[in-house]
Amino acid sequence: MTKLGVGVVGVGVLGRRHAENLQKMGEANLVAVADSNAARAAQVAAELGVGHHCTGVEALAARKDVQAIVIASPSRFHAEAVRVAAQAGKHVFCEKPLALSMEDAEKALAAVDKAGVQLQMGFMRRYDPAYIRARRRIEAGEIGEPIIFKSTGRDKLLPPLGFLRDGVNGTIFVDSTIHEFDLARWLMQDEVAELQVYARPLRGPDLGGFEDLEACLVNLRFAGGAIGNVESLRQCQYGYDIHTEIVGTKGTVRIGYLRQTAELVLSASGAVSDVVDHWLARFADAYWTEMQDFVHTLLRGGRVAITGEDGRRALACALAAQRSYEQARPVAV
Ligand SMILES: NC(=O)c1ccc[n+]([C@@H]2O[C@H](COP(=O)([O-])OP(=O)(O)OC[C@H]3O[C@@H](n4cnc5c(N)ncnc54)[C@H](O)[C@@H]3O)[C@@H](O)[C@H]2O)c1
Repeated sequence: MTKLGVGVVGVGVLGRRHAENLQKMGEANLVAVADSNAARAAQVAAELGVGHHCTGVEALAARKDVQAIVIASPSRFHAEAVRVAAQAGKHVFCEKPLALSMEDAEKALAAVDKAGVQLQMGFMRRYDPAYIRARRRIEAGEIGEPIIFKSTGRDKLLPPLGFLRDGVNGTIFVDSTIHEFDLARWLMQDEVAELQVYARPLRGPDLGGFEDLEACLVNLRFAGGAIGNVESLRQCQYGYDIHTEIVGTKGTVRIGYLRQTAELVLSASGAVSDVVDHWLARFADAYWTEMQDFVHTLLRGGRVAITGEDGRRALACALAAQRSYEQARPVAV
């Protein structure tokens, strides 16, 4: 059987999971892992039994036995890594966000176009079975015309300070809310035309002068006239809580799985709830299926499902949200 030779760059929390999944996947040959922390690259290679390790995307891109590169380094490095991989003729799977600025996103996409390689974005919620079923119901007209989109993403605890410091992974909008923006586009099958943000600054941790936000609410107006509201919260204490609702003219579909109790107190001290602790647990199947789909699609010469254009449009929403926050007014996307 022909296998797809893959390299993973950035083998921290998520990159390690992608590497692990690729290592288990019959159709993939995980050739090498790269991490700017050489000891981390060596450790992950040893733990997963990967033959080669190196410290950057350039070394992966130089390998003839690598046909595709998975990028899971901090967000600041995504766009440049996409360019290096594409210029070497490698297909790319890039974690969100595509870039931290539209200019960098455009440069990365131009390199992908020029090289004629494929780029898939890591919007894994589109591979979650509940989200897939919801989208099918909407497409089948079960809820009529979608008119309201609501989506919430709450992390249990702040990520490690190194993840937030100096804005290496961008603000909450490009790091977290971007998932809701992608879902909004995908489930409503429409573009966000305008948005307005209310947000609370993140106080306390030393982020090296970078100003991040603890929580945000973003009101949305879609091009086709629907409306919406999304929330991101950096730490809710009780668990990793993701839920989404699409209200239509004939019905509503909800995705998310808190128990249907009349009164529910959610706290770190153990009130009843069925939320999970971490995104690696909630979306374990989705991370597996997205990578399997990426590998299968490339092997059979198909087109990837979630494109660089999807990455660019979700990023445009996230950066518009940042402007709305800074200027305290509604802004066009
Ligand atoms: N789709 C999702 O659900 C999801 C979830 C978590 C993280 N992410 C994205 O994945 C990326 C990584 O997140 P994480 O939580 O694994 O972070 P992490 O900090 O745990 O891992 C990042 C790794 O990259 C390495 N690194 C730093 N700079 C590098 C460079 N220039 N080249 C190569 N390696 C470098 C670090 O040493 C570290 O091992 C981020 O962009 C984040 O937004 C996506």
